[in-house]
Amino acid sequence: MFGSRLFVAFVARTALAQSVQIGLPDAGTVLNPGEDYTVQIQCPDSLTSSQEVALVIGIQQCQNGHCFPPDETLGNLLYSGSFNPQFHEPSLPPYQNFTVHIPDTMSSESALVGVAHFALVGDSFAPLIDYHNQSVSIA
Ligand SMILES: *[C@@H]1O[C@H](CO)[C@@H](O)[C@H](O)[C@H]1NC(C)=O
Ligand SMILES: *[C@@H]1O[C@H](CO)[C@@H](O)[C@H](O)[C@H]1NC(C)=O
Repeated sequence: MFGSRLFVAFVARTALAQSVQIGLPDAGTVLNPGEDYTVQIQCPDSLTSSQEVALVIGIQQCQNGHCFPPDETLGNLLYSGSFNPQFHEPSLPPYQNFTVHIPDTMSSESALVGVAHFALVGDSFAPLIDYHNQSVSIA
């Protein structure tokens, strides 16, 4: 009983430690359609072994301020491929920058940058998918 509760706590903590975060763009950043921007995905360092599988970045046009959660809709695909976070500045966790192109078709309203991240965690390769979002504006 005690052992299994400990295990659950360990897995939950591990999952948390392995999830990524959106470093850039900052919340509320104004993006121009047709221009390129940096999306920075940070991966807080952790002692647990994990194997990165894939990362997907999308941007979704919100309708009257309503956006769908990224586990349902990513909108326009900005990036889909491998994820290889590295240490750069000592003040930041390991990260990777992605240069993405904001579609011309996006109109001036709020939008949501959505991220889906897939990794394998620990010695038994527990599959982990985590979703993140950042609210931005389209100029
Ligand atoms: C965006 O993320 C926040 C916090 O992680 C969450 O509370 C919110 O529901 C998410 N928004 C959508 C549209 O999924
Ligand atoms: C990642 O992008 C940010 C913002 O443009 C920049 O400050 C940083 O130097 C970039 N890092 C690398 C390793 O290119």
